[in-house]
Amino acid sequence: MPTLTDKVALVTGGATKIGRGVVEVLHKDGAAVIVADIDAAGLAQLPEEIDAQHCDISDDTQLAALISGIIERHGRLDVLVNLAASYLDNGAETSRDDWLTGLNINLVSGARLSELARPHLAQRGTGAIINFSSISSAVAQTGRWVYPVSKAAVVHLTKLQALDYAPDGIRVNSVSPGWTWSNVIEEVSGGNLEHADRVAAHFHMLGRLGRPEEIGRVVSFLASDAASFVTGADYAVDGGYGALGPEQRDPAIPLLAP
Ligand SMILES: NC(=O)c1ccc[n+]([C@@H]2O[C@H](COP(=O)([O-])OP(=O)(O)OC[C@H]3O[C@@H](n4cnc5c(N)ncnc54)[C@H](O)[C@@H]3O)[C@@H](O)[C@H]2O)c1
Repeated sequence: MPTLTDKVALVTGGATKIGRGVVEVLHKDGAAVIVADIDAAGLAQLPEEIDAQHCDISDDTQLAALISGIIERHGRLDVLVNLAASYLDNGAETSRDDWLTGLNINLVSGARLSELARPHLAQRGTGAIINFSSISSAVAQTGRWVYPVSKAAVVHLTKLQALDYAPDGIRVNSVSPGWTWSNVIEEVSGGNLEHADRVAAHFHMLGRLGRPEEIGRVVSFLASDAASFVTGADYAVDGGYGALGPEQRDPAIPLLAP
């Protein structure tokens, strides 16, 4: 089992379902966890042992205050999870402002925060950054441009960070979840998990959605010293979505029958 005892971990976007699942696993595995989010109601619902901080990651002043506050309160920072994201996307018709907002939140803010965190992550020579990408990074999804492009860029940013941060002993990896029980899926499925699982079954070899804690367990492994020789990698946590071709799970050949 990965252990995060004595580690201090910052999770952006940790106030909602997937983030919360990640936060709970990191905490259970022994880390002191800070959550930075703009969702005041979600922050207020976090357990009191989690250090909940209101912070807009697209604001450099707030990011600097976040890091200095963490060092004041916790003395150090070992793990950064760049999870916060925006689904702002109008496909081909996306305005310039919305393009820049989506890329700012999903890509640029994590890069800036990583650089601010870098001297602290470097201090013990065992720092770790985990960036959130998605299955959307590698496939075309109709009507979506900004979000998939941002997530593809996160995979490449991860490799660049891994190379440039390696001399500091900081490992950088990304996770690419498949469809996961989250606010967006709860909303579009009318809160019906079983229905969402049935729909997801066609696209995921394991025949269902992922659960937030299943994403959290992979993040915890990548954050831990058990992953000491893992860097620059993208981990699929997608129930086999990415390995499945267009024929999906059901036999396709019988469809040829007249
Ligand atoms: N939902 C899925 O099925 C799925 C699949 C693949 C990848 N992902 C990835 O998992 C992560 C979580 O996804 P989710 O569906 O739970 O998203 P979500 O929108 O429910 O949660 C994102 C969190 O980020 C926070 N946030 C947004 N903008 C912020 C800002 N400027 N500053 C600080 N916090 C901000 C939100 O308040 C929210 O708590 C994202 O990176 C997403 O791309 C999700």
